[in-house]
Amino acid sequence: MKNLRKLFDQNAEWAGKIREEDPSFFERLSKEQTPEYLWIGCSDSRVPGNQIVGLEPGELFVHRNVANLVIHTDLNCLSAMQFAVEILRVKHVIICGHYGCGGVNAALQNQDLGLITNWLRHIQDIVYEKCDELEKITDDKARCDRLCELNVIQQVMNAGRTTVVQDAWKRGQELTVHGWIYSLRNGALMDLGVCVRNADEMQNIWK
Ligand code: CO
Repeated sequence: MKNLRKLFDQNAEWAGKIREEDPSFFERLSKEQTPEYLWIGCSDSRVPGNQIVGLEPGELFVHRNVANLVIHTDLNCLSAMQFAVEILRVKHVIICGHYGCGGVNAALQNQDLGLITNWLRHIQDIVYEKCDELEKITDDKARCDRLCELNVIQQVMNAGRTTVVQDAWKRGQELTVHGWIYSLRNGALMDLGVCVRNADEMQNIWK
């Protein structure tokens, strides 16, 4: 008897249903992937990239970590970006945060959660940078939500400054970095209006 039987049963049901609707689906996908989008999102189980934007397997290349951070020295994220941009030639890099992010809230509250506290220090850098704006917001939830937005904007900036994206732009490769945020409360996705298509547009991110 397999462990986690339920998940294997659900897999058989899922794969069977797809094969029924489209018999060559898996054979086709097993040969190659040609996604147009790289999704950099939060690991939060409530924010499943593919489902949120209604894309099928093969359509969205995904990297997720706690609080959707793009850190200059994070080889994991940088490698996913490089593979997506240089090999798969995605046209869009989507940084998607979400309101009510536990990682962002922990950073804001200065909670000690062990090892991950070090990771979340990157968000505290934003709190420090934007403390004037954040201090003016009296409601705790609203302050956290604003920090969730500011975090996405900072990560768009970070992504745009990676050698991966900079080199793509230098080559003349069509590549746009987007900053989006998702609401857990109603499932709605919002564009934060910070998309950048070239090095010049990077200047105007923090309006
Ligand atoms: Co989160």
